[in-house]
Amino acid sequence: MCGIVGVTGVKGASGVVYKRLSLLEYRGYDSAGIASLDNGKISFCKRRGRVFSLAGDLKNLHGDTAIGHTRWATHGKPSDENAHPHTAGKFSVVHNGIIENYSALKEKFFSGVKFFSETDTEIVARLLNYFYDGDILNTLKKTLPLLQGSYALVVICADFDGIIVARHKNPVIVGYGKNCAYTASDLSALAGLCTEISVLEDGDTAFLTKHGIEFYNSEFERTERSKRENPAQSAELELNGCPHYMLKEIREVPSSIIKTADAYICTRDKIKRYLTGADRIIITGCGTAYNSGLIGKRYIESFARIPVEVETAGEFRYKQPIVTKNTVVIAISQSGETADTVEAARLVKSLGAKVIAVTNSPYSELTRIADAAVPVEAGQEICVAATKSYTGQLSALYLLALTLADKDEKEGAEALKVAADIIARTIEHTDIGTLAEACARSSGVYFIGRDLDFAVATEGSLKLKEISYVPSEGYPAGELKHGTLALIDIKTVSVCIICDGELAKKSENAVEQIISRKGKVAVITNVPETVNRLKGKAEIIEIEDCGKFLSPLLSAVIVQLLAYKTALLLDRDPDKPRNLAKSVTVE
Ligand code: M6R
Repeated sequence: MCGIVGVTGVKGASGVVYKRLSLLEYRGYDSAGIASLDNGKISFCKRRGRVFSLAGDLKNLHGDTAIGHTRWATHGKPSDENAHPHTAGKFSVVHNGIIENYSALKEKFFSGVKFFSETDTEIVARLLNYFYDGDILNTLKKTLPLLQGSYALVVICADFDGIIVARHKNPVIVGYGKNCAYTASDLSALAGLCTEISVLEDGDTAFLTKHGIEFYNSEFERTERSKRENPAQSAELELNGCPHYMLKEIREVPSSIIKTADAYICTRDKIKRYLTGADRIIITGCGTAYNSGLIGKRYIESFARIPVEVETAGEFRYKQPIVTKNTVVIAISQSGETADTVEAARLVKSLGAKVIAVTNSPYSELTRIADAAVPVEAGQEICVAATKSYTGQLSALYLLALTLADKDEKEGAEALKVAADIIARTIEHTDIGTLAEACARSSGVYFIGRDLDFAVATEGSLKLKEISYVPSEGYPAGELKHGTLALIDIKTVSVCIICDGELAKKSENAVEQIISRKGKVAVITNVPETVNRLKGKAEIIEIEDCGKFLSPLLSAVIVQLLAYKTALLLDRDPDKPRNLAKSVTVE
């Protein structure tokens, strides 16, 4: 949520920031801006719209130091004025997070002063300038403790030949180059630029110059932060001939399953240590991560017979969770930075529960908080809609459930690899075009299923509404007749997932009920009897059988492809849906 990049000691710094900001647009894309520093002079440009709208301004941004921002609006509408950087006197600031007490600070320090923007960020630039006495560290000591909320701040000051970075809750990393230094909100922005990075800890500030990086802790005392390898690969950021990241990332589903399975086998022993003695499990996450938790619950309860609750992280935190030392909380997050999930994990850990992170981001805040992390090896996911990370999460949860049940994970990993092969074939050969056309023309799409198929239905619905903006809901097939059936008419499409032979007939009843109300129905199924019974009545998308527990990985890919094709037919940008951002680092 909001992408940040900064470079110092680099010729043509604003050009480098511009290029790297484009890679971060998935974090927000409603406005963008860059500030540069040249011999003590700050220049900036900022606009509503995408990063490319800044291209013409680069010629005016000179110097070896520059900072940039791509925004997902929280306070203040997307506009030129509200775009970052925000500049006051000698300071220019870009920010990710929320300054919750900005109105109170404005009233206290700048009563009657007209601000340029409606943002919560401008107060930071104003305060820095207000307290500035020629000593930047001193100025930070006076300013930062006043700020409530969360921030990753990247700042330039006309008197300092470098960049100042500060962190409170929101992630920010710094990177080491030869006679130069970098900073960014995400590792991917630095892929190919630097091989070594450090992650700022909560309360840290850092001073970046071409000579190196100095760190200060939350007490503003000099400290060291360890150097780590930057795992982000620039090759992962290429589209490789694919028209969109979403399609590229769906095609990477099989490899994400295989890599996640291999990684699990390597970390299994550490994870097992924290699972031993668990008598209750709570799974938490948001959006797609929550949906994968619904499937994780079924895996754990079926294999290990341990009770599992699944809670959306934003709700869970405020429910006064009851946990004991034998409660294991599994926090699922692709980014590892989603504020609701991170705060939920922090809370239950402080209450004594063990926390296992299931995440695609090994250096994230969630990984740092957790007792152990189950790696999802999906690689960089750029499309806002989660695809390969979802199937990676399902793979990790499947193996984790086997560990809890004392079953053979190696066999499980082999089964996942077989499923990955089937998925690779399916992606190549499935034609979803007719159904996508029907969805694009419809007034609403209902995804239904029972048990595991219902869990995939919720994800199918999220995916479709997120990138095509077609209204959609996911329902348990049996619930339809208790209300939702009233919505069915000739303009609606229902997508019924039937991949569990034992429940097939029950779900078919729901299909018949929809057909009787003149609704169009498509059935995604691996059950031959269902195909025979419904042929001619509903559109059938027949898929291979991956077995009851792994079929969600395959049916998920079908609904992902359906959402993608529908979005294209409606001329939507599937990679950057309106109003959304990839990592939601604010509450
Ligand atoms: O990074 P996270 O997995 O914590 O993100 C959680 C949700 O914001 C995310 O899954 C969101 O729902 C996706 N855009 C769905 O495709």
